[in-house]
Amino acid sequence: MVDTISKSDVIAVVQARVNSTRLPEKVLKNILGKPVIQLQLERLERVGRCDGLLVATSDERSDDELEKLCGMLGVECYRGSLDDVLDRFYRAILPHKPEYVVRLTGDCPLADPQLIDEVIEYCIEGDFDYASNTIEPTYPDGLDVEVFKFSVLEEVWKEARLPSEREHVTPFIYNHPEIFRVGSYKGNIDLSHLRWTVDESEDFELVRSIYEELYPPNPHFNTADVLNLFEKRPELRAVNEKYGRNEGFEKALMKDRVSMENQRNSKNISVQERARQRIPGMTQLLSKRPDQFSLGVWPCYFSKARGVEVWDLDGKRYIDMSIGGIGANVLGYADPDVDLAVTEAVKAGTSSSLNCPEEVELADLLCEIHPWAEKVRFARTGGESMAIAVRIARAFTGRDKVAFCGYHGWHDWYLAANIGTENALGEHLMQGLDPAGVPKCLAGTAFPFRYNQLNDLKDITSQHGNDLAAIVMEPIRNDKPVEGFLDGVREIADQLGAVLIVDEISAGFRMNTGGAHMLLDLQPDIAVFSKALGNGYPIGAVIGKGDIMDAAQSTFISSTYWTERIGPTAAIATIRKHQRMNAGEHLVAIGNAMQAGWRRIADKHGVPIHVGGIPPLSHFAFEGEDAAVIKALFIQLMLDKGFLASTSFYSMYAHSEEHVSAYLKAADEVFGELANARKTGCAENMLVGERSTTGFKRLI
Ligand SMILES: Cc1ncc(COP(=O)(O)O)c(C=O)c1O
Repeated sequence: MVDTISKSDVIAVVQARVNSTRLPEKVLKNILGKPVIQLQLERLERVGRCDGLLVATSDERSDDELEKLCGMLGVECYRGSLDDVLDRFYRAILPHKPEYVVRLTGDCPLADPQLIDEVIEYCIEGDFDYASNTIEPTYPDGLDVEVFKFSVLEEVWKEARLPSEREHVTPFIYNHPEIFRVGSYKGNIDLSHLRWTVDESEDFELVRSIYEELYPPNPHFNTADVLNLFEKRPELRAVNEKYGRNEGFEKALMKDRVSMENQRNSKNISVQERARQRIPGMTQLLSKRPDQFSLGVWPCYFSKARGVEVWDLDGKRYIDMSIGGIGANVLGYADPDVDLAVTEAVKAGTSSSLNCPEEVELADLLCEIHPWAEKVRFARTGGESMAIAVRIARAFTGRDKVAFCGYHGWHDWYLAANIGTENALGEHLMQGLDPAGVPKCLAGTAFPFRYNQLNDLKDITSQHGNDLAAIVMEPIRNDKPVEGFLDGVREIADQLGAVLIVDEISAGFRMNTGGAHMLLDLQPDIAVFSKALGNGYPIGAVIGKGDIMDAAQSTFISSTYWTERIGPTAAIATIRKHQRMNAGEHLVAIGNAMQAGWRRIADKHGVPIHVGGIPPLSHFAFEGEDAAVIKALFIQLMLDKGFLASTSFYSMYAHSEEHVSAYLKAADEVFGELANARKTGCAENMLVGERSTTGFKRLI
């Protein structure tokens, strides 16, 4: 690799401007009769691995003098945006189109040419997209070198949105190791406490003393010479030691906060305002309502989604480490294989007066995967598929009542459990579901029991056993089944002649290709799928034993759009890819890594959480009275770092270990901030949006 890169394939760019807030005109300040920037450029002439050198400054009048100086020195000077340094940087290099770019800042008159060569070599030899000695700093502040591919700069120029990313050129690269191959170049001794940059007047005093001592006898003095001088004159270290590293960058992060404030004026928020006026409840799914995250901050709408990336209406890009389309997108967004099958179907026409044969292929496939099942009906959403299953069970048994555990959708049969009770559904995923509009005569037809509490079910059956049409439950969700629970449920269903309906809408296709009941050795009479089955395209399936499913013919279950072609086409492509990739194994591994990471960072920062869920459907809850505030702050700070994140995580096949590492690195920092916010009592003040809501509540 090294041999194929010629010297001219590497160009160094020094970004500089005269107007610095902390030390005005610093780059033009004189040392031994020469401006600081000239001394730096002299040193850069000795960098061996690149021969192209240019200065990128602003088009403000204050930088005219800098341009003139470059002209005198014979150094190319490009002038561009003052604040959008990334744009300035990119345009400066564009005409040269080198293979690699070296980024240097113009306040470093002690720049080390040998070190710059070493980082260039390291980047090229390691075939990194980006390498620098600042990721894990071991060199003095002021010897910073960043080397990256021009192609990467081009990509970042298009994608980076945050003010800090535009002003500091490279954060978008090193903050996304899941996208870019990032290399960290480190020295043998840690000298990162030394400050050789020129930002403050004390910095300038130090550099001047060094130059006055070393430059006259040897203009080519090197880093070792400076260190020797420090040995001889230890008092020099104290000159500027009170200043921290990277204050400029911290200021830029503050600007990001302000940009989060600007979020309020963004397209995302203005569409939300319109939705509030026009759409009762704002969204069609409670779990995607922005108040469930943090109203005013959560972007709520997307313009584009691909893999694990989502772009909001302002074009801001996020890595989605949240609810993965609330479990629908098990493979990832816009999966190329599924989309290919779907676009072919679109081209062929998706609906006609005749039926689509794909539904027969899908029915065969589902029965092949679940050999106990013989017949299948299709719908398009989870809740309606559950309503179909319950209708079939009622038709088959001739009975009305249902015992259930967990959440199963919005339909009357389910919400009936809350008629005239104090929130019977409260223990079943969602609190506060109001049965307004559900006929009161359905009171006493649906009875909840808790997972792993066989006695709850026995209590129901002792009163309603002979009237029970179905027992409805998820095979697994938050807890593993305790010994005997699932067998006990099966036995009770058999004794009563009730239909055992297993709701696989969330659990299915997570740990294996098919229903989770197969892993748990649970024998259902009916199993219901949706969500993951279509990887984002609407499809629901009710599969079951032949005699029971035949009861669908004795009642009326029929709908126009259940006959279209896209849903079954997407489901077939999803199942085939899921099977081929052994996706379940990956989803579990990713989920486990997230759960372990949450536990580790929560412990590290003393922010207690409770972690639960099967690994592909993981979640955590902040403990403490301020949980709703801390959750909203977590969401806000993670958005700030480019992640869609909340307290639930649904793994997708497109999630990689790198996504998890990048997420956990960001979450680690955010948990540190949460701990601080709690300590200083300022968490609520830090919220740009509103605290998170839980459960179902009217939106006002
Ligand atoms: C277990 C379970 N059943 C049913 C449903 C309802 O599905 P849908 O939202 O597609 O109507 C859900 C949705 O979250 C679910 O998790």
